[in-house]
Amino acid sequence: MSAQNAAKRVTVPQLQARARDGEKLAMLTCYDASFAAISEEAGVDMLLIGDSLGMVIQGRESTLAVTLAETEYHVRCVAAGSRTALVIADMPFASFQESPAQAFGSCARVMAAGAQMVKLEGGAVMVETTRFLVERGIPVCAHIGLTPQSVHTLGGYRVQGRGDDAADRLVADARALEQAGAAIVLMEAMPAAVAKRVTEALSVPTIGIGAGPDVSGQVLVHYDMLDIYPGRKARFVRNFMAGAPSIRDAIAAYVRAVKDKTFPAPEHCF
Ligand code: KIV
Repeated sequence: MSAQNAAKRVTVPQLQARARDGEKLAMLTCYDASFAAISEEAGVDMLLIGDSLGMVIQGRESTLAVTLAETEYHVRCVAAGSRTALVIADMPFASFQESPAQAFGSCARVMAAGAQMVKLEGGAVMVETTRFLVERGIPVCAHIGLTPQSVHTLGGYRVQGRGDDAADRLVADARALEQAGAAIVLMEAMPAAVAKRVTEALSVPTIGIGAGPDVSGQVLVHYDMLDIYPGRKARFVRNFMAGAPSIRDAIAAYVRAVKDKTFPAPEHCF
């Protein structure tokens, strides 16, 4: 990619400024070049190479078996089809939890493959690693709430942050991650009121999935919102293919619904 093309890509400070100005940000998962191109054309701001690829592409029961090499491969595919969106690599299980140095080595590989940011699942436990990465030039999106890589310690894909103590912990974790340098905080499956508290406590954008409307933007797994994934749909998923003449139109409808705040509706919230 030429430097001229790279200049057109949205930057983290631009996204942060747009969120501060009240624009809702649209993130969508993406695993290949063709979807990257049509998602961007439809107005998606951020493409997340989610480790959900373990379930929706590889047909596994969880995200745990996704490898760093597989993530690199999909980052390369998405980066090849993308010109304008921020490309975010979701760091797979066991590629970053051991130590900040292990995380840096793994994140450097996905950045070299074409990512502009990495996403790390985990709250307070990821503060030191976040600081280490950011100080060394790797932008970080934190991921708190339901963290699917911890499905076995959480006892299932359960809503997090219910009750005052759990909610306070999420707010404290988000603050600590922001202080450590996280540029975006993604929140999954929590009561809308808790996500609102977190958003109000931070100055960086928050992105929600099952976190209600009072966040800076939304993300969905594109195989879910296109109704391709045959598994059970979470409450927070809306089928944007319903009534859409094409995949392109469905993704454009998702972006419009995020930007005009009609998604998520009350039935998608906890
Ligand atoms: O892997 C993924 O797709 C994710 C989203 C659910 C946020 O982490």
